[in-house]
Amino acid sequence: MNKEHIALINASIDGLYQQKALSELLNESIRYSLQAGGKRIRPLLLMTTLESLGGRPEDGLPFGIAVEMIHTYSLIHDDLPAMDNDEYRRGKLTNHKVYGEATAILAGDALLTDSFNQILFSQYSNETKIKLMSLLINAAGSNGMVAGQMLDMENENKTIDMSTLETIHHHKTGDLIHASIYAAGIILNSDTKERDALDKIGRNIGLMFQIKDDILDVEGDFESIGKAVGSDIENDKSTYVSLLGLEASKQKLDQILKDTIEIVETIATNKTSLIDLIVFIVKRNK
Ligand code: IPE
Ligand code: IPE
Ligand code: MG
Ligand code: MG
Ligand code: MG
Repeated sequence: MNKEHIALINASIDGLYQQKALSELLNESIRYSLQAGGKRIRPLLLMTTLESLGGRPEDGLPFGIAVEMIHTYSLIHDDLPAMDNDEYRRGKLTNHKVYGEATAILAGDALLTDSFNQILFSQYSNETKIKLMSLLINAAGSNGMVAGQMLDMENENKTIDMSTLETIHHHKTGDLIHASIYAAGIILNSDTKERDALDKIGRNIGLMFQIKDDILDVEGDFESIGKAVGSDIENDKSTYVSLLGLEASKQKLDQILKDTIEIVETIATNKTSLIDLIVFIVKRNK
């Protein structure tokens, strides 16, 4: 985890929603969730991927912040009573517990919509902006993260097979993570070989991220993960752990990690920081 990158990300995020607004309450609830202490994995992945390919990490900030805004909206909505019904997020009360459900829904709506301004008002060329917008819209929308969340809900209280579970994970969590990595290829105008590798790396990290999240839901502790342990069991979700068991889930993670590092080694000139970040994602306790 590169502290300088995190400082840049936090400085950008802390500057958001500070101006006088039509509704101070809406802005306050948005700031509450944006500044609650997320790990900032998605912008970090983009900045680190850029660095590993010889680019400038700060060029990832506009897209990375946009993804972080969409990610934060997805968590606010994910915690609502109609969805996972959780009371804690990032070690604090969930948005709806503090501001009420209506404000939490609107804070999410605002974050999603406003995220696109990060790209529109960035320094990227117009051509890059269009490609990045398209990447983000597809990753977040009705065939991306939202579809994953819908399938996650539709399959509560059901026994599903591994390929259905993988589809859910690829979309609900994988798509935004994949976009964060693949964006580096767009920003750097990478050739096909590099883009294909980024595509696979992004897919693998997205899947690993959710497998680890499922594991932490069982063996994490509240103090570290900042959200309830056992939320998946409570909601009768199918997860990697419920389908495969803890040990096999961990073995699966190790296997994907090994495969992913091998792919990183084929494209990255400065690969250490990206490999370190990927290992952090797999070994994290929060
Ligand atoms: C949690 O994401 C939800 C999933 C998509 C698995 P993170 O673990 O990245 O959450 P924060 O942003 O650090 O709180
Ligand atoms: C959430 O997955 C994925 C999105 C918010 C898109 P989870 O429901 O497993 O995330 P946590 O465990 O509540 O963070
Ligand atoms: Mg959920
Ligand atoms: Mg949840
Ligand atoms: Mg979870």
